[in-house]
Amino acid sequence: MSDTVNKFYLTTPIYYVNARPHIGHAYSTIVCDVIARRKRLLGDDVWFLTGTDEHGQKIERSANAANKTPQQFADDVSAEFHHLWQRMGLTNDDYIRTTEDRHKRGVQHLFSLLQQRGFIYKGTYTGQYCVSDEAYVEGPAGVVCPDCGRVTETVSEENYFFKLSAFESTLLKFYEENPDFIRPEKIRNEVMSFVRSGLKDLSVSRTSFNWGIPVPGDEKHVVYVWLDALANYITAIGYGSSDPADQAKFAKYWPAELHLIGKEISRFHCVYWPAFLLAAGLPLPKAVVANGWLLFEESKMSKSRGNVVRAETIMEAFGALKPELPKEEQDLFGADVLRYFLLREIPFGQDGSFSFDALLTRYNADLANGYGNLVSRTLTMIQKYCDGIVPADRTGLTSAHSLKAVYGPEEEFHTRCNRYEFSRAIEVLWIGVGIADGELSAQSPWKLAADLSKKDLLDKILYEAADHIRIITALLYPVMPYATAKVWAQLGLGDIHEAALKGELKNLEWGGLQPGTKLGELGPIFPRADKEIITRMSEIEQKNAPAAVAEAPAAVKAEPKPEVKAEAKPAAPAPAKPAEPAPAAVAAPATPTAPAPVAEAAPADNTITIDDFAKVELRVAQIKVAERIPKADKLLRLEVDLGYETRQILSGIAEWYAPEELIGRRIVVITNLAPRKMRGLESHGMLLAASDGDHGRPVLATFGEEIALGSRLK
Ligand code: MSP
Repeated sequence: MSDTVNKFYLTTPIYYVNARPHIGHAYSTIVCDVIARRKRLLGDDVWFLTGTDEHGQKIERSANAANKTPQQFADDVSAEFHHLWQRMGLTNDDYIRTTEDRHKRGVQHLFSLLQQRGFIYKGTYTGQYCVSDEAYVEGPAGVVCPDCGRVTETVSEENYFFKLSAFESTLLKFYEENPDFIRPEKIRNEVMSFVRSGLKDLSVSRTSFNWGIPVPGDEKHVVYVWLDALANYITAIGYGSSDPADQAKFAKYWPAELHLIGKEISRFHCVYWPAFLLAAGLPLPKAVVANGWLLFEESKMSKSRGNVVRAETIMEAFGALKPELPKEEQDLFGADVLRYFLLREIPFGQDGSFSFDALLTRYNADLANGYGNLVSRTLTMIQKYCDGIVPADRTGLTSAHSLKAVYGPEEEFHTRCNRYEFSRAIEVLWIGVGIADGELSAQSPWKLAADLSKKDLLDKILYEAADHIRIITALLYPVMPYATAKVWAQLGLGDIHEAALKGELKNLEWGGLQPGTKLGELGPIFPRADKEIITRMSEIEQKNAPAAVAEAPAAVKAEPKPEVKAEAKPAAPAPAKPAEPAPAAVAAPATPTAPAPVAEAAPADNTITIDDFAKVELRVAQIKVAERIPKADKLLRLEVDLGYETRQILSGIAEWYAPEELIGRRIVVITNLAPRKMRGLESHGMLLAASDGDHGRPVLATFGEEIALGSRLK
């Protein structure tokens, strides 16, 4: 490996502040942290950036719904992300927020430059806009966004336009000449066919809302949120600043070596961003690499689906396996378990499922019984048979069984990592764990220990096993920085973080472990976890789920349809809890009529008082998204717009309504029903429908006249 210092600037996407951090966000950030740590130990001058994306209509609306100013709202959620990355021990060198002055200044500088260079002009735009993705969509009024499936809104505004169309052939030529610019191949092909199908000029300002960076010199416009957000990659390293130190930093680190992104935002990073940079006369990043989605219960983990798992849950549950540690270290230990799982379990670039069950299985099999057990048995024997001093190999034997003859993981590990094949890279190390374990079992050093004449052979076996652990541990350091630090210290090698900085974790020659080294204090690194940890994690998640709204009154809660009930089962693996209620399906009788005058007398058995009725909050909503749920024949997943917020509702009407025919309908939703989870998805409310005929066909209550979303039925 070369000793010349390379710089390596890498970035995560900046996360929207309308959602709390979950392990989907943590996934991209962890992968970057692993890459950053590995590059640092190889001697590169690394700059690792992450941050939050805080402008745009979506954030403005979420802030309104939360009764906060957009700035206050953004401050709170951004702080949560920042704090979480710190708790997890992530080593980002900077944290950019798009509401910071340094960013605003840089964006305005870029916008003006693009204007001066003739790539931004003024025009009028009328068309469809997806607020959720902050993206324009081709097609007629009401067309559904191809990325998220939500119904678009018609916008007509005087806008500034960016001449994206001018970059079609330049971009295609660039992709051809730089086959590694976009990875994986599938995404590269998608991007290229998108560009080949023709690029239209892009509207890069908005006047319909205020929460953004004002266009310099024309302040009723704010800069399009994706131009604003993408620019973070340069503003964070000093672009647009007149301070010489900032300018030097920008000159040093730009262009980035790597933008790591989720696959759904590749068009923005592989088409718009390079075009903006070309227009500004700036060099292009070296690579845009997309990770797949983390799925939970078969669909993409996301706030709108309500199927999120938080990193804190895993840190808390696994941290509790180490009660002797201070809280910060428990967190770091739990974070290592999550890091290992995400990198090992999911072939990078593909979608992968997360489950508590799979997490536990990997932990016990690979960490407790695999690597952890190898470390523990080897070091315990050195303690016992060699007084805790690493023995020397005095045999001079180079038998074919010698570990060093059969196993050399370093080159392959790094090659795999350079290709973003993290799971395969880790697998290479575990082949080593298996080989070393097998050697120990085959040679049975504990038997040799009884025979003084075999001492040299015993020492050789233990030395090789310990040296082997040293090599595996050094390579594993970027993946599990906390746990490997403990192993390093037990090997008597001191502080692994310092060793990484001094370049001692590369060029890992066999024999690098000095005989005579005194082992550190021993103790189990990965205690076995039992199945209860699954229940524990589910409980922690539930405890932290958004507070339930008031219990729905019995009158409306009734009427679950038996066939729908069969669909509902507890989210697996779930803690023991009462049987899952039926999905929000059909409430009968149909639309309540005007309340009758209230009699003083106690109501008869089947009547309710006006106060009872008033407890039920019924509102007008519009169905924006409707889709089937895999392996659930009766359930549909809906996203309904209440005017003030969008909600996910699961409804057992799939046998009677095709998803397509529901989009755009104005319906009635019971909004104050306590949320419940089905198939791992949260349902926040219930649709109102009549139950028709013998089969109880649900017929949705709807309106014959114009009615504003969110209107209350009373
Ligand atoms: N703000 C934009 C990005 C602007 S970058 C200039 C955005 N934010 S986001 O919060 O919606 O998502 C950002 C990233 O989070 C995704 O691209 C992806 O890297 C990560 N993930 C969020 N949910 C995820 C999963 N369920 N699975 C994997 N990654 C996920 O888009």
